[in-house]
Amino acid sequence: MKISPSMLACDFTNMEKEIKKISYAGADLIHLDIMDGNFVPNISFGPAVVKSLRPLSKLPFDVHLMLMHPHKYISNFVDAGADIITFHLESQSKVEETISKIKQCGKKVGISIKPKTSIDLIFPYLNLVDLVLIMTVEPGFGGQDFMSNQMEKVLALKKEILKRDLNVFIELDGGINLETIKLIKNYPVDICVSGTCIFKSSNTRETIKKLKGMNNSVHF
Ligand code: DX5
Ligand code: ZN
Repeated sequence: MKISPSMLACDFTNMEKEIKKISYAGADLIHLDIMDGNFVPNISFGPAVVKSLRPLSKLPFDVHLMLMHPHKYISNFVDAGADIITFHLESQSKVEETISKIKQCGKKVGISIKPKTSIDLIFPYLNLVDLVLIMTVEPGFGGQDFMSNQMEKVLALKKEILKRDLNVFIELDGGINLETIKLIKNYPVDICVSGTCIFKSSNTRETIKKLKGMNNSVHF
C-alpha cells in the first residue's frame, strides 16, 4: 500500500521544508488538494504553488482537483508538473472530455466521488481511467472523521475491476490515521492519502511506516 501525504495539512509558512521532509520519510506520492471555494466551501492553492514545489521532490504529484470546472484547468496543472490528475464525477465538466484531455497531455487520470455518490456511477468510465479516488470525508477540509461506511464501495469497485480485468488503482482520501488505517487493512486499497496524521506527527518516518505496515491489503 502506498502513502500519499496531503500537503493541505502542512505548515504553509515552510512548504519547502515540509515537502522535503515527507519526500525523505518514505512517502510514495505527494497529494495536492486544489479547492476553488465553489465545488467545495474552501480555497487552497493553485497551479503556481504546485509549480514552485515541483523541483523540490522527485515523487509523483498526485493532484486532486476539487473544482467545479476542472476541464478548464488541466493544462495549468500539467504545466505545473502534475503526474496524476484526479477530478470529481460531480463537477460540471464533461467526464469523457476531461479524461481525454488529461490523457492527451500524457498524464495519469483519476476520477473521484464524494461520500453520497454511488460507486456504480463510476463504472461507465472505469476502462478509461488509471485510478478511482473514494472520498472517506466530505471534501473541503482536512482533519475530519473517517467515514467507515464508504468501505463497501471499495469492495464493489474492486469486484468490478477484477470482473473486467482492468488495471485501475483504488485510492482513499480523508480521515486516515493510525487508528482508522486498521479498518482499511483488510480491503484492497492501493493508495491512502493522509494529511493531519502525517504532518502533525513528531516522527514523520515512523508514522508513514506504521501507516504502511498496518495495512496488509488482501486482493480478492
Ligand atoms: C479533503 C482532502 C483530503 C484531506 C486529507 O477535501 O481531499 O486530501 O486533506 O486530510 P486528512 O488526512 O487530514 O483528512
Ligand atoms: Zn485530497
